[in-house]
Amino acid sequence: MRPSDRIFCALDTTDTWEAAALAARLKGTVGGIKLGLEFYCANGADGFRRVASAGLPIFLDLKFHDIPNTVAGAIRAVAPLGPKLFTIHTQGGPDMMRRAADTAGEAAEKHGLEKPWVIGVSILTSMDKSDLAAIGVKDSVSDQVARLAELAAKSGLDGLVCSPKEIARARAAAGPGFKLIVPGIRPDGSAVGDQKRVMTPKEAVDEGADILVIGRPITQAADPAAAAADIAQSLDMATA
Ligand code: C5P
Repeated sequence: MRPSDRIFCALDTTDTWEAAALAARLKGTVGGIKLGLEFYCANGADGFRRVASAGLPIFLDLKFHDIPNTVAGAIRAVAPLGPKLFTIHTQGGPDMMRRAADTAGEAAEKHGLEKPWVIGVSILTSMDKSDLAAIGVKDSVSDQVARLAELAAKSGLDGLVCSPKEIARARAAAGPGFKLIVPGIRPDGSAVGDQKRVMTPKEAVDEGADILVIGRPITQAADPAAAAADIAQSLDMATA
């Protein structure tokens, strides 16, 4: 994997043309583009196709969370778009995760596409120990992330989204080969914004991250492609 392949740029916008233009500018300097709920609710499948036409892999971050049958239906609905990876909530439980993994494989085969990575969302970084306690979870955030990582791996998922702080625990719980997708990344010297627990790209990869989700440090830069290339170069040094 080239260092730039590890970078997925989060395009948090509702503007299809802006997203498509940025995707085209970033081609060759990042491994892919992340489109989330904001973009997809505004623009749907047409917006997805327009951004994907830049030729970069797409991470569709819609965080499906429902009964197994409904999640399977949603996966069948987005499968023809050919995302490289998409997210579901691990808190949907083992049956839902197993069904999601199976459905992703079947739907990809039906459409002659490569099976997408089915990635579990663990505990949202907006939640702390008191939020977990409020919904009846007595464990710490990192214990709960480790439990969900292990469960996700056993249920056939390909990986997990986790904060930089939980990379080591998730890796230990799920084992090698399980993909860790990590937001909350800030290159040295860039604005932290509303992210609370950040790591540099190099630190996160050294810790065991596979894919780095990076938004504003790239999208808000005067030259987004140059900012992405600088990050890739810092990773090259990390893995040399
Ligand atoms: O601009 P920034 O680099 O903070 O963007 C990070 C991206 O990762 C955003 O799309 C954000 O919604 C997403 N994300 C996150 N923390 C999570 C899960 C997703 O920052 N726990």
